[in-house]
Amino acid sequence: MTGRIIGTGACIPTLVWDNNKLAEMVETSDEWIRERTGIARRHIEKERTATEMAIEAAQKAMESCAELKAEEIGAIIVCSIAQEEVLPSVSCQVQAAIGAENAFCFDLKAACSGFVFAYNTCLAYMNMGLIKNALIIGVEKLSTITDWTDRSSCILFGDGAGAAVINACEEEGAMMMKCDGSRGEVLTCPAGSTLLMNGQEVFKFAVRSVPEAINEVLAKKMLAKEDVDYYILHQANRRIVESVAKRLGEPIEKFPMNLEEYGNTSSASIPLLLDELYRSGKLPKGSRLIMAGFGAGLSWGASYVTV
Ligand code: ACO
Repeated sequence: MTGRIIGTGACIPTLVWDNNKLAEMVETSDEWIRERTGIARRHIEKERTATEMAIEAAQKAMESCAELKAEEIGAIIVCSIAQEEVLPSVSCQVQAAIGAENAFCFDLKAACSGFVFAYNTCLAYMNMGLIKNALIIGVEKLSTITDWTDRSSCILFGDGAGAAVINACEEEGAMMMKCDGSRGEVLTCPAGSTLLMNGQEVFKFAVRSVPEAINEVLAKKMLAKEDVDYYILHQANRRIVESVAKRLGEPIEKFPMNLEEYGNTSSASIPLLLDELYRSGKLPKGSRLIMAGFGAGLSWGASYVTV
């Protein structure tokens, strides 16, 4: 059994900080940031809470598949590393807001791998016959945990929320997830503090582990690369995406990107990209996608998903 995307939604902050704005805050330049990362702008949320953003993305996703009633959602999983409240969970608040009274709900923290881990978790429940439909949301307010005086990291991050409604379908699925807790120091955020990152180590880890993860999923699914329509990668850095494409021997056109507009939005980046593609008609029914997430933990994972 695998998951089929039947609806998507997003919540995008209206406040935009371009690279020139950051150059007023730290010693950097538009040229340096674009060249090293591919990022031109990021959206910053100053007013709404992460919960409010998650609810907006969820409502839009539910509206986009109006044939599905909220009571038919069996699970709601919200991934986030930057939410304000400890309790109640964001997912329970989403449940109340959309009236998904039959869903079980929990929040999942797997940083930039969050959306893929949440999707894989839903697939496991689907394969056990526990649920037929799930709502998965990635929401981040990374601006609240970014050190805006550290030029090596603050240029990367942005805020946003994306959601997808997933329906169980009979087609055989394939997934993988891995972690290496012994390398946790590469990317940390102590409680009440800001993100600390060894950029070069993250870079090396990503370009090695993501192609391996994708190849593992392709092999499990017995799917030829030519039959993949798009690879939906966590949007960390253009050079990481380009390097993964090269290592896989696949054309860069099969790796859509929106990091120029949003920067790195951690667990929100994959659903934001899915929403953009889905709404622009680039994901017709039957599209075959491989998603891959990677980040703090260290953690990484990939999965097959259809439309
Ligand atoms: N503007 C201008 N100069 C800068 C900036 C900046 N914003 N940041 C660093 N520099 C300088 C450094 O001080 C250094 O100067 P020096 O040579 O005089 O010492 C020089 O630029 C090169 O610095 P590096 O850190 O080697 O630059 P690099 O090419 O590695 O790029 C970057 C840094 C963009 C962070 C890169 O390592 C990267 O993208 N890594 C991936 C990290 C990532 O994506 N993290 C996201 C979070 S984790 C996740 O989502 C999975």
